[in-house]
Amino acid sequence: SKEGFDHFMLKEIYQQPEAIQHTIERRLDDEGYIQLDDIQLSKLELNAIRKVYIVACGTAYHAGLVGKHILEKALQVDVNAEIGSEFRYNDQFIDDKTLVIIVSQSGETADTLASLREAKSKGARILSITNVVGSSVARESDDIFYTWAGPEIAVASTKAYTTQLVAFYMLGLYFGRLKGTLSDQLYKQHLNELQSITKQVERTINNCIEPAKVIAEKIKDSHSLFYLGRGLDYTSALEASLKLKELSYIHAEAFAAGELKHGTIALIEEGTPVIAIATQTKTYDKTISNIKSVKARGAYVIGITTTDNEDIEQVCDKTIYIAKKSDLFMPILSVIAPQLIAYYTSLAKGNDVDKPRNLAKSVTVE
Ligand code: F6R
Repeated sequence: SKEGFDHFMLKEIYQQPEAIQHTIERRLDDEGYIQLDDIQLSKLELNAIRKVYIVACGTAYHAGLVGKHILEKALQVDVNAEIGSEFRYNDQFIDDKTLVIIVSQSGETADTLASLREAKSKGARILSITNVVGSSVARESDDIFYTWAGPEIAVASTKAYTTQLVAFYMLGLYFGRLKGTLSDQLYKQHLNELQSITKQVERTINNCIEPAKVIAEKIKDSHSLFYLGRGLDYTSALEASLKLKELSYIHAEAFAAGELKHGTIALIEEGTPVIAIATQTKTYDKTISNIKSVKARGAYVIGITTTDNEDIEQVCDKTIYIAKKSDLFMPILSVIAPQLIAYYTSLAKGNDVDKPRNLAKSVTVE
């Protein structure tokens, strides 16, 4: 049931703090260390891994792009995130020193499952992140991390995505400790930061509702819209634009902000809406310069940034503020405003929010 919400999607957006908390808390032992019952990979086996592929489709792939950043730091080996429909036909070099991480909410996506089987036949170790116990992906994997998001009914994925991100943070910490790449102090510090996100997600949802409604009215008749970001803000931009496309049917694209000048900026016209995600401290100033350049060409710019960056108001037409964390943890918070913008734009256009046209919740065909 929708429990008083107009749509499953809105209910699921609001369930995110709880879903995140479940995914974290149930895995902490008495001493506060992460314990993963369905992961058997030993220290010895982990040390033998030379390369990691993360394979998934759609939103789950976007979670994988964040996972790449996290696991490269934790494992100190090459990590590649790949789309299922590409990976399965790509003939990557895979052997028994390869770890393949499969990400799938449903655990039934055809291209993702085929990728799993392909990698397994070449000897790779298969670890899956899935939300459905007993799904095909879960049954065929060596190791499993279950996201405890609860059932996701709306076609557009929200709480599954943010709990997939949590899964990557926890795997990063768990593997970092197992491999010895992470000091105990840093481990505890990161884990605290992860645990404190639950409250921040709640606050961010509440703070983003009104601005998202205003933006929805502003963009609902636009033909196209661009999301910009760098690094982990770019991965959020990719997820943000997918969410807007599938729900509002507006042509939305994500661009790595630094790439604009290599062609894309030609698309900016008077009044083109541009939503810039600027949470990463490392690249904040660069993103501000990119905002200035689209603004100079007439764009209507909406900034999504953390509360300490009020100077962004000088270059944006509108700003949404979200809670601050260290750069690596920002993707969980930076996707919330885009989820709500997509929701309210779909609503404003009279679309079927929970069942957007042409889409199915579980894609079991190629
Ligand atoms: C978008 C969305 C899809 C799914 C994709 C993979 O909102 O939900 O892009 O993420 O079809 O589905 P799963 O995770 O079930 O493999």
